[in-house]
Amino acid sequence: MIDTAKDVEPGGRPDPHTATESLHSDWVLIVDFGSQVTQLIARRVREAGVYCEIQPYHRVNERLLRQRRPKAIILSGGPASTVERTSPKADSAIFNHGVPILGICYGQQLVCAQLGGAVEASSHQEFGRATLHVVDECHLFDGVWRQGDAPQVWMSHGDRVTALPDGFHVVATSSGAPHAAIANDDRRIFGLQFHPEVVHTPDGAALIARFVRDIAGCAGDWTMGAFRRSAIEDIRATIGSGRVVCGLSGGVDSSVAAVLIHEAIRDQLTCIFVDHGLLRHGEADEVVRVFRDRYQIPLIHRDASKLFLDKLTGVNDPEEKRKIIGRTFIDVFEEEADHIGGVSFLAQGTLYPDVIESVSALGGPSVTIKSHHNVGGLPERMRLALLEPLRELFKDEVRVLGRELGLPDTLVQRHPFPGPGLAIRIPGEISAEKLDILRQADRIYLEEIRSAGLYDKIWQAFAVLLPVRTVGVMGDARTYEYVCALRAVTSTDGMTADSYPFDHAFVSAVAGRIVNEVRGINRVVYDVTSKPPGTIEWE
Ligand code: XMP
Repeated sequence: MIDTAKDVEPGGRPDPHTATESLHSDWVLIVDFGSQVTQLIARRVREAGVYCEIQPYHRVNERLLRQRRPKAIILSGGPASTVERTSPKADSAIFNHGVPILGICYGQQLVCAQLGGAVEASSHQEFGRATLHVVDECHLFDGVWRQGDAPQVWMSHGDRVTALPDGFHVVATSSGAPHAAIANDDRRIFGLQFHPEVVHTPDGAALIARFVRDIAGCAGDWTMGAFRRSAIEDIRATIGSGRVVCGLSGGVDSSVAAVLIHEAIRDQLTCIFVDHGLLRHGEADEVVRVFRDRYQIPLIHRDASKLFLDKLTGVNDPEEKRKIIGRTFIDVFEEEADHIGGVSFLAQGTLYPDVIESVSALGGPSVTIKSHHNVGGLPERMRLALLEPLRELFKDEVRVLGRELGLPDTLVQRHPFPGPGLAIRIPGEISAEKLDILRQADRIYLEEIRSAGLYDKIWQAFAVLLPVRTVGVMGDARTYEYVCALRAVTSTDGMTADSYPFDHAFVSAVAGRIVNEVRGINRVVYDVTSKPPGTIEWE
């Protein structure tokens, strides 16, 4: 879980696939063939109380299996077709390893194609909800489905199995897939054409729990309490008597990482909070209050707002703004770390989705839409080893850990906030005056969202100050002031998003308050663009 000095060259990125290796005796390996929903398999396995890791198919070989000894293997779906000669294969060591195997969709087709059965492209593609007909018993279905049941499942496939390998029998069919579920109970190998990991297969979580707990024999004792204890031991063993700095942003991930590390090594940790003057109303005070006063964590609070504002004066281009903020942040952070002295580790709140190398269906590097800035840019320049105690966790698991550590809900349930802060919510040049106007509008908007009980239903909500003035009338006077845009989105990972469908009355009430209470804004609009084609932030 932790990048020890031996896993990482000072200043270099660790190999994520060695860095995540921790000594779980009871764990499940998910072999990724590029499905869009592989992470959901991991979610379901962990919900069953079992630790799991995702590895891209080309990294899974006999050596890895011998060294890491997973108790079960799940083969994910994927966009390829086993009918094509060049399609990705499962290493034969997987089938000889002797542990239970569950093949899902493409994974099921691999089980068949590689163990002596047959798969064909089908003229009848099946996408979406389907009804399964359970035609036989098998260990996987025990306690979940019986022969004669007709549960709803989610299908997404073109190819289908046409002949079974020796020792397998059909346990369920559907109108588009005569081999919708297959089993070899003796070898404990199962194949599902449908996707048990998605919520549209209502009994899918129970099937996955049955596989990892009852069939593979995993204890199901992977809880956040257990994670907290083992993470603390790991941190102590890694750091010894060394010193650690942690860049604190006030966001969930760095906050939870800091509190966890502090619990392990106390005052060997110093948090550095660089206030770039681009934070929201009250944010800097809250971070200082929570960390310094409540947790007594050594915290350097550097108010660098003037420095940032000076550097951003006259800058209009969004990418230039992002780069200036990123560079200045590193300069200030380095200065502070140098003052502390003797620091050998940089702690970061890196999460599991950042670590997984999912197999891209398209391949190739993706284009840079925006240069994201967070503390992740630091290690190369700072020549520090990384300490990333959350790198096994998903965001919602980090929130559970945060609560376990006693962090207040206001911090744990926080919407994401970008490193460049309000600077990318004021298109064009920023100024102290504009930042002040935006802070007030944003505070009102979030107050209204909270009091309507909507905060936790929304992935992210914020106000944007447009560099456009329009004419209005207040009382009997003419006004000529800025336009404020409101943004609220639902999302699971920030990669895609939909605008939140507020009631019209709610948006009108927020607009009324902003225009009446904030000097400098006389018009409010609501952004209904999804991502894609828009992005969540405006710059
Ligand atoms: P976009 O605007 O790219 O945003 O759709 C997706 C998510 O990423 C956040 N975001 C950032 N987070 N540093 C961050 O730490 C950044 O530079 C950055 N830019 C965007 C954004 O708020 C949204 O949650």
